[in-house]
Amino acid sequence: MPVIHVLNGPNLNLLGTREPVTYGTTTLADIEARLQANASGRGAQIRFRQSNHEGDLVTWIQEAGAAGEPVILNAGAYTHTSIAIHDAIRGAGTQVVEVHLSNVHAREAFRHHSHISSVAAGVIVGFGALSYDLALEAILSGDFGKKS
Ligand code: DQA
Repeated sequence: MPVIHVLNGPNLNLLGTREPVTYGTTTLADIEARLQANASGRGAQIRFRQSNHEGDLVTWIQEAGAAGEPVILNAGAYTHTSIAIHDAIRGAGTQVVEVHLSNVHAREAFRHHSHISSVAAGVIVGFGALSYDLALEAILSGDFGKKS
């Protein structure tokens, strides 16, 4: 069964109670459960993880790359700061879909730049928890952004 990695960065463990006006009230566990159900009905399996540490995300992207498995990545604030995550995606050579719950472009200027977008297969921002479902749909429905 194909595996899709869903990797979440800092502070996303607090979804549900963290700034609900911006991020909604859906918890990370809710998102995981919905993705698992959707993926298993489509013959795929989700490997869902969260860390507050940049290096964990780098290691997990490397793992997905070594296995040739696609990634849905919400790197949280590391999106805007992390050259290490940019380099990990480049080096992994696997399909990465960048997601954000909030519309980062309608927020503070420091959220407008992403170090991930230029090495991602695609970017989905601003649809709340649904951003993850849309990313899953994109991965399941096509072969765009796959590296040969
Ligand atoms: C976020 C947007 C980031 O700017 C922020 O630092 C987050 C969450 C989002 O999903 O909207 O932690 O990635």
